[in-house]
Amino acid sequence: MTPYKAHVFGPPRAANQPTSLMPNPSQATLGEGNTPLISSVSMGPKLGLKNLYFKLENCNPTGSYKDRFIAAEVTRLVERGVKACVATSSGNTGASLASYCARYGIVCSIVVSPETPAGKLEQMRVHGARLLQVKGFISSSEVTETVMQTLERLSGEQNMPLVVSAFRYCPEGMAGVQSIAPELSEQCDGELDHVFVPVGGGGLFTAVCRGFDEVPGAAPKVHVVQPQGCPTVVEAFERGVDTVQPVESTTKISGLSVPFDADATTVLKALRANGGQAFGVEDAEVYEAQRMMLSEEGIYCEPAAATALAGLRRAVGKEIVGCDDRIVCLVTGHGFKDPESIARAAAEYPPVLLEAGELESRLTA
Ligand SMILES: Cc1ncc(COP(=O)(O)O)c(C=O)c1O
Repeated sequence: MTPYKAHVFGPPRAANQPTSLMPNPSQATLGEGNTPLISSVSMGPKLGLKNLYFKLENCNPTGSYKDRFIAAEVTRLVERGVKACVATSSGNTGASLASYCARYGIVCSIVVSPETPAGKLEQMRVHGARLLQVKGFISSSEVTETVMQTLERLSGEQNMPLVVSAFRYCPEGMAGVQSIAPELSEQCDGELDHVFVPVGGGGLFTAVCRGFDEVPGAAPKVHVVQPQGCPTVVEAFERGVDTVQPVESTTKISGLSVPFDADATTVLKALRANGGQAFGVEDAEVYEAQRMMLSEEGIYCEPAAATALAGLRRAVGKEIVGCDDRIVCLVTGHGFKDPESIARAAAEYPPVLLEAGELESRLTA
C-alpha cells in the first residue's frame, strides 16, 4: 500500500511572505496564498484533456482568492495607521476585509447589494463589519456608478480609504493577487498552456496576467470567462473594440455581476496581448459546472468559482485547447459562501428517512 502523503506545495508561507517560514510581524496575514493545485479526476478525462488542474483558491482563509488582495491592502492600512475604511463588495471582498479588519482593529463599512448570498453576508457580520445594503447596487450600472462616485468623494473628504478589488481603485493591494501566477508556474514546473479565469470587474484577470509578465519564460494563454448576463469584456472583445460599455446586469452569479468598467478595459488589452479568448457562458452552464465540481471532482465551490470550468467546456467545443495542453481552472471561492446554490445541487440527492430495522434491506437492495 502506498503510504498517504499530504500533498503540500512548497513550505507553508503566506502569499506576501515568499522567503521566510516565520510570520513577518509587519505583514497583515491570516495565512493566505500558497493554495493547492490538484488534478482533475473526472472532467479532464470526460473532456478528453490529459492535463487539467484546479487551483484551489477556495482554500484561502476566508474562502476566496480575495484574501491575497486584502492581506496586501490591510498591510498598507496598518502601516498608515488607518482606523476606519469603507468598501464596496459583491460579497467576497467584504468577507475578507471584515475578517482582516477584525484582526487588525480597523472599523470597516461595506456597501453591498441586497442580493448578496447569505454565506458572504454572515461572514461580514460575524466579524463586526458595518453592512450597508443599497438597492440597485451592482445590478444597475447607474446606481452602481452613483454609489462609486459618492464613496470616492466621501473617502477623500473623510480621509477614509476606499477598498475596492480593482486596480482602478487599489493598485497596490491588487498587486497581492499577482502571487497566483508565480505559484502556478512553480506548481506546473513552468509548463502551463492555458489558465481559465472567471471575470467580474476584471481585477483578478489583470493580476494573473501581470503576475505572469513577471515570471521569466511563462506565457500561458489566460482566458476570460464571463456570464452572458454581464458581458462587459466579452462583448467588447467580440466586437473588436477597445472600450467597454456599462451594461444592465442580469446574471445571478454572485461576484461576476460588475456592470461598469472597473478593470474591464485593462482586461481587454491584456487579453489581446496574451492571445487568450473571451467566453460568455449562461448562468445555467455555470450551475451545471458547479454541480460537476461538487459531485464529480469533490470540490465544494460557489458558482463563480465553477465559471472557469464552464468556459473551458466552451473552449473544448471550439477546439481552442489541445488534449495534451496543460490547463488550469481557477476555483476562486468556497461553497459555504452561497448556500442557496448548494441547496439546489443538494436537492438532487435527497436523504432517505428510515427506521433502524429497514437499514439492512436498504443497504443490500
Ligand atoms: C469567487 C469570485 N470569483 C471571481 C471573481 C471575479 O473577480 P474580478 O471582479 O476581479 O473579475 C469574484 C469577484 O468578486 C469572486 O468573488
